[in-house]
Amino acid sequence: MEKIPSYSTGDGHVPAGPAVPDGFRNMPECVLTEQRLAVLCPGPVQLLPSCTSTNDLLKTREDAPDGMVLVTGCQTGGRGRLGRRFASPEGGVYLSILLRPEVEPQKLLHLTAMSAVAMRRAVFDCCGVEAELKWVNDLIVGGKKLCGILTEWVGTDRVIIGIGVNCNTAPDDFPPEVRPMATSLRELTGGPVDPNALAGAMAFRLRQMSRVLLTEKAAWMAEYAAACVTVGKPVQLLRGDFREEAFAEGIDEDGGLIVRLKSGQRTTVNTGEVSVRGLYGYV
Ligand code: BTN
Repeated sequence: MEKIPSYSTGDGHVPAGPAVPDGFRNMPECVLTEQRLAVLCPGPVQLLPSCTSTNDLLKTREDAPDGMVLVTGCQTGGRGRLGRRFASPEGGVYLSILLRPEVEPQKLLHLTAMSAVAMRRAVFDCCGVEAELKWVNDLIVGGKKLCGILTEWVGTDRVIIGIGVNCNTAPDDFPPEVRPMATSLRELTGGPVDPNALAGAMAFRLRQMSRVLLTEKAAWMAEYAAACVTVGKPVQLLRGDFREEAFAEGIDEDGGLIVRLKSGQRTTVNTGEVSVRGLYGYV
């Protein structure tokens, strides 16, 4: 029979070891480790055992180099877009990258959309899963959320892109209100996924993106528009408590959603302002 690796010290005592989601205690390759990250995620990277929010922590690292990555498998204060909480149970990969673009924020309105394309490529690289995009920053598969992205500027010269991917997250570990609309790579591939390899693919694609933010914008935005399932559907626009029905007609060059309102008026809504739901559910 195949020998199962374990954390046992040989005297029957099993030390606490790193936090591993249930079911993965004997599968070290399903745990984020400094050794595996060093190989699979080369470049400036730091692994945190757990933290409040990788975005918040990276903001405090004023001297961090361009391309610096913080990664953890569990956040206690994960944040999403529009001030929402982002549930970050063990089993996920929560990663933030610092970029120091040499252009002003107004010229990078497409950054969140391009980051979504980078994450779509990373998930495909790592596991062959083809995700679709729900405007503006969600990766979805089969109508369920796999990944969310939060882009935050610190002044005008630093930007932090924070990404949460449901890697090996078990369904029961999501809060009940999130569970029906969440999926994970483990569920989609039918087996455990190495979070170190996923983090490596994410960092690689994000750093690649940062080199072509202006020069390859059109091609990346065309890929965004082609993968965006929001377009061509009736949607609800959510601004705080205010809801309005509209029809999503397209994506503009900066990743804004072009919508036709019930009044017939055509307008563009931007990330940071509005979120979108389907008329009958999440997508
Ligand atoms: C969203 O779906 O609204 C965006 C979610 C972004 C979550 C990531 S996880 C890593 C980073 N740290 C955070 O607190 N948020 C981002």
